[in-house]
Amino acid sequence: MQSRMHPKYYLSQEIFEREQTKIFRKVWLFAGLKTLLPQHNSFITRKVAGTPVVIQNAHGKLHAFENICLHRSAPLQTEPVGSRPLVCPYHAWKYDATGHVSNIPHCDAIYLFDEAEKQSLKLREFALRTVGNLLFINLDPQPLPLEEQFSPQFLASLESSSLAYDTEVMVTTWHCKFNWKLVYENLRDFNHVRFLHPKSFGNYVDFVSTIDQSQCSESQLPLTDNTPEGLRKEMRRFSYGGRDAMIPDMRRAPWHSSVERWGDQDAYYNWLSIPNLHIASGNGGHSFTIEHHIPIAPDKTDLELYWITARKKQPIASSHQVLLANMHGSKQIVGEDVDMLEKIQTGLHLNAPIPNQGAYESTNRLIERWYTTLMETEHEL
Ligand code: FES
Ligand SMILES: [Fe+2]
Repeated sequence: MQSRMHPKYYLSQEIFEREQTKIFRKVWLFAGLKTLLPQHNSFITRKVAGTPVVIQNAHGKLHAFENICLHRSAPLQTEPVGSRPLVCPYHAWKYDATGHVSNIPHCDAIYLFDEAEKQSLKLREFALRTVGNLLFINLDPQPLPLEEQFSPQFLASLESSSLAYDTEVMVTTWHCKFNWKLVYENLRDFNHVRFLHPKSFGNYVDFVSTIDQSQCSESQLPLTDNTPEGLRKEMRRFSYGGRDAMIPDMRRAPWHSSVERWGDQDAYYNWLSIPNLHIASGNGGHSFTIEHHIPIAPDKTDLELYWITARKKQPIASSHQVLLANMHGSKQIVGEDVDMLEKIQTGLHLNAPIPNQGAYESTNRLIERWYTTLMETEHEL
């Protein structure tokens, strides 16, 4: 079966910008962890679809503002994470919990703004939602309801599992040289595990690729409903999670007994969320890895990785070692994926062969059908 994905979708700057407008500035995107914002003035900063964003805790309530000062565009917060009031470091304009400018030093002496001008100075604010411990942001001024993007089951599963996270977290970013769509394709393809990861992942999780006949037939038909409602409904199918495969003879680490494990099965848990979030627990809910794939350019994706154990019942003296060990595990497994995806990207050119997918790849075919329909229709999500 030939794929719908012409190589141009992984190479073109024009299509990349269309994706940014039609997907990344429209849908809810993962934005960080609530546990990183525990008290008044805690903040995190990030770039979302090219827009610098600060998420700031104001007396216990979280707000997402554009991280650009209204005076002369300096970033209000400059660190990735920290605790500091919302005051611009350049000329010390201060902002309140609603994003209004609350103080301009020497305003009456040197700026001569009148009251109306001062009142109109307000930071752009974005919609922010909390699901358990996960933050989701939406840049659209009229955001679609989160419940239209994700099914109730998926939201409930994300909520329950993320509430099991401990507050200690290790984060890093890898700068990868491939298109973001290669990641979601790879994540929904279990068949590669035994070949690409024979010594690591493939060694202890028994993944079986299956065929869903009706989905397979459906994936060969065009998507008939390309209205915004139809496109949203279709998108909701592509985010799901929970138990994926059992882990026979799961290795017990000594620290496992010091955390409140999520669930009670020796399973590989997997949460896949369109467009760019993947959460996994490869040890039956004792710890979690979050992978956030941030498109930077057609051939560049930042892979932001978070490692967290389940909530500690008692302090673990060497908890940073546990997170570091998880990080090394990812370095091997995710590193094998990254290496392959970069090689694929390197070989792509406009005249490259169109992929030929088998029946087991019908979920990816459905996503491609949705994606190409959205890219080519004048409708928005
Ligand atoms: S740029 Fe922020 S106060 Fe001047
Ligand atoms: Fe993989």
